[in-house]
Amino acid sequence: MTERVLSFTGLARAVREELGQAHRYAHVVRVARLAERLAMRHGEDPEKARLAGLLHDLARLYPPARLIAECERRGMPLTVFERANPIVLHARLGAELARERFGIEDPAILSAIRTHTVPAPGMSRLDEILHIADGVEPGRHYPERDAIENLAFQDLDAAMLRVILATVAYLRSTGAEVAPQTFAALAAYQTLAAEPLTFPAVAERSPACPT
Ligand SMILES: [Fe+2]
Ligand SMILES: [Fe+2]
Repeated sequence: MTERVLSFTGLARAVREELGQAHRYAHVVRVARLAERLAMRHGEDPEKARLAGLLHDLARLYPPARLIAECERRGMPLTVFERANPIVLHARLGAELARERFGIEDPAILSAIRTHTVPAPGMSRLDEILHIADGVEPGRHYPERDAIENLAFQDLDAAMLRVILATVAYLRSTGAEVAPQTFAALAAYQTLAAEPLTFPAVAERSPACPT
């Protein structure tokens, strides 16, 4: 147990150095803690959730040109949306960095990192846990945050729907483009909802995407 704790502490230190920014490091630690708690509540692997949280934003501070260049250098195909909105690439590139620099080979952890910015239909429970934890970690401030966090401990699908609705409302308020797959995810989670939900009041900060 001690060895595992020390090992995680060492990993956390390496992540802090990699990120190079106290603000972003504090965010990923909060996401890791919340993702771990959500995983425990929903019968998922808490260690995978914690690792995904800690490693999800490794490329978040890269400027747009570097995001595109590093993806191209790895032969990653880019969509029209990604070229127009390169910030979302920090998720896909972050998964590559987690593998290359931190030795993460677990497909479930890499998938969660890869999907944390833009939701899609067919996400795994771990994908959902990281996406929600990123969107509602306690460092974020918007009217629905507390309610969605509480809901996530009861119903992940319902919490996903609320996070996506809040994200789309925020992106529309800023004039930003919404990814086509976000609308596909919205439709998928709408079909799972017991009752229809409408877009919330606009959040003052983005709940999930693209951070
Ligand atoms: Fe992110
Ligand atoms: Fe994040």
